[in-house]
This record gives sequence, C-alpha cells and structure tokens, in this order.
Amino acid sequence: MALRRIELYGSEVLRRPADPVENIDDEVRALVRDMFETMYDAKGIGLAAPQVGVSRRIIVLDVEEESGEANRVALVNPRLASWTAKKDKQAEGCLSIPGVEGIVQRPVSVVVDARDPEGRGVRLEAEGLFARALQHEIDHLDGVLFVDRLSPLKRQLLLKKWRKLQAEAAEP
Ligand code: NI
Repeated sequence: MALRRIELYGSEVLRRPADPVENIDDEVRALVRDMFETMYDAKGIGLAAPQVGVSRRIIVLDVEEESGEANRVALVNPRLASWTAKKDKQAEGCLSIPGVEGIVQRPVSVVVDARDPEGRGVRLEAEGLFARALQHEIDHLDGVLFVDRLSPLKRQLLLKKWRKLQAEAAEP
C-alpha cells in the first residue's frame, strides 16, 4: 500500500470525465487500497480516483451515520440510478480544495448502481450524509467539483479564501 498525492483545485485531471473501468483486476484493487489509505491519512470521508491523478471511475467512502452505522465502500463505475425530488442543504468540503466549505443543495436520498472491487454488481440505497458523499464523489468522476454547485458569487469568494489559505501555507 502507498499514500498517493492528492490533486488540488486547478489540476486538469479533476476536470476531465473519468474513463469507465473495463477490467476489475488486481491493479484496480491495489488502487482502491491506496485510495482508502490516502483518504484516511487526509481525514476525509470520500475520495475519487481523479483526486489521486487516475482518470478512472472508482470511488471510496467511509461515512459514519449519526446512528453510528458505518458505510465503508469502494465502488467501480458507480452510477446514480435514481434520486428523490426532496433536497436539502449542508456544508461540504473536498480534499482537493482543503480548508474551505460551502453549502450545497442535493437530493436527500439516492440509489447507486456499481460494481464492487471483486466485480460483483451492487445496488446502494443511501440517505443523509452517505447519500451526499456518494453524489459528491460521483460528481468528481464527471469532472464536477462542489464549488460548481454554488452561486457564482459564493464560488468566487470561497476560491479567493482558498487561494489565500494556500498562499499562507506556502510561506516559510
Ligand atoms: Ni471532493
């Protein structure tokens, strides 16, 4: 296993639609293990392959519900099969835009179809934080970042704040 470098906002790979995975092989499983390790190291709850510079449709999540129920999943070629009309607004962050958060509106519940790392078909019915995290990570596979879902003004302010934080972090 190995930690992978997390791509930051501005990186081209974050904006490219990721390629579907044709063969779910040992290379994919090794990538999944690295993605989990990288996500835990960065204290995130979700990570998409483009965020570690790999333009393939793979995501990992480990989301603990308020009920204490854990949702640790790795999904290959995930697809939103359906979603509720009901939406809510919650704060979101992203390991590729560290240190800032924005309020994003998303459907409350979703159904996701995917393959697991062994190649088996899986269907997940998710709500709350887990549903939100799934949508956020699937967005990454389409080159979409949470800031794209903010109003232009809010996006501008948030990115300005982020660039300031980045500049400060780069100072000796
Ligand atoms: Ni993200």
